[in-house]
Amino acid sequence: MHYFQYRDGELYCEDVPLREIAKTFGTPTYVYSGSTLLRHFRVFEEAFLDVDHLTCYSVKANSNIAILNLLVREGSGLDIVSGGELYRALIAGCPGNKIVYSGVGKTPKEMRYAVESDILMFNVESSQEMDTLNEVAQEANRRARISLRVNPDVDPRTHPYISTGLKKNKFGVAMDEARSLFGRAQKKEALEVVGISCHIGSQITEVSPFVDALSRVLDFVHILKRDGIWVRYVDIGGGLGITYDKETPPHPEDYAREIKALMRGTNLVLVLEPGRLIVGNAGCLLTQVIYTKRGPERDFVVVDGAMNDLIRPSLYGAYHGILKVKGESDGEITADVVGPICESGDFFARGRRMPSVSQGDLLTIMSAGAYGFSMSSNYNSRPRAAEVLVIKDKVFEIRRRESYEDLIRGESLIPDPWGGPPWK
Ligand code: LLP
Repeated sequence: MHYFQYRDGELYCEDVPLREIAKTFGTPTYVYSGSTLLRHFRVFEEAFLDVDHLTCYSVKANSNIAILNLLVREGSGLDIVSGGELYRALIAGCPGNKIVYSGVGKTPKEMRYAVESDILMFNVESSQEMDTLNEVAQEANRRARISLRVNPDVDPRTHPYISTGLKKNKFGVAMDEARSLFGRAQKKEALEVVGISCHIGSQITEVSPFVDALSRVLDFVHILKRDGIWVRYVDIGGGLGITYDKETPPHPEDYAREIKALMRGTNLVLVLEPGRLIVGNAGCLLTQVIYTKRGPERDFVVVDGAMNDLIRPSLYGAYHGILKVKGESDGEITADVVGPICESGDFFARGRRMPSVSQGDLLTIMSAGAYGFSMSSNYNSRPRAAEVLVIKDKVFEIRRRESYEDLIRGESLIPDPWGGPPWK
């Protein structure tokens, strides 16, 4: 469900024609619908209303501070994976006690920053990380709350690159190792064991892998109790999928019903880290056709957005719907929709059946709100796109388009190393 709809043959985001956004802000531009975003968050929250829980939106999905701030104002906590994300979270007004920190490679510097920000908990992913965190917290004269991220070895049946809960994955610790690690953590002076966590993958379109993972984690909580270790939080990560094409992911209520059934009577606080579900279908990438081109074997639609703006099709072969901003057209074509980057992998769609388009037409790459801008880069020295947030008939520029000066910020020329005069 989202608020990108045709009105009189023209595509709108809420009450604003996308044509106007292109006119004011240029292309390519990420356009987010604030009402969609909030609706997704509220539906998710309502589904879990009757259990003790904390939703920590996963910052990596879309980390624009305006988006984070909207969600924080709705009561969301945040799931972070780096010092940079912590910085964003704090700027967006998130209280430390609603921040959870995951990731296999937290550096001592990042840990110190998070310890001093008094975050809710570190989801610790290895034995060495645990020792390092203990030292960092000791030096800071603080106690760090931790949860251990376990690897429940459940197959989420999603793309291998975004599957994280299998034994072969780098994330978390195996259940057998976790038991001794919990024991060791308990004895660390500067650590307080408060939780257990897992995250099995992303874009998961069935409930059963979540149920399997949570059941294993809860069985493990019983074992811990027998060892005299009591946890308060069970963090089941994110991962609930969305519809890009024909997928039929469970509604948050169906997902919640089964999770809640397992949680009832446990006295544990459930922590959830949804990312894609909240923002994925709340954003699109607005782009313009630069050229259409007929090849001997294929037809191409060359647009001004590229893989540096949205890498999901190139990286995962991901499907994104493509719509024409001006609805009507003379018939259909089959084409590759490609960007200007010097790589054959630079495409948004291949062999796509779509309405015919002409030079100058505006298109939207749909479902681009999650892992779109946040994975964008400056490859081919392309300034990163603008981001705008629409709420009803209001448009806010939440990130201005980068300039050429932005591209070289922090770079410098060096004096001639062979002793000649410096370059001008
Ligand atoms: N929690 C943890 C510890 C995570 O690693 C992730 C995502 C999430 C929560 C949020 O998962 P979500 O609800 O968004 O599925 N770039 C890929 C997705 C990578 C997901 C990484 N971790 C993509 O574009 O599909």
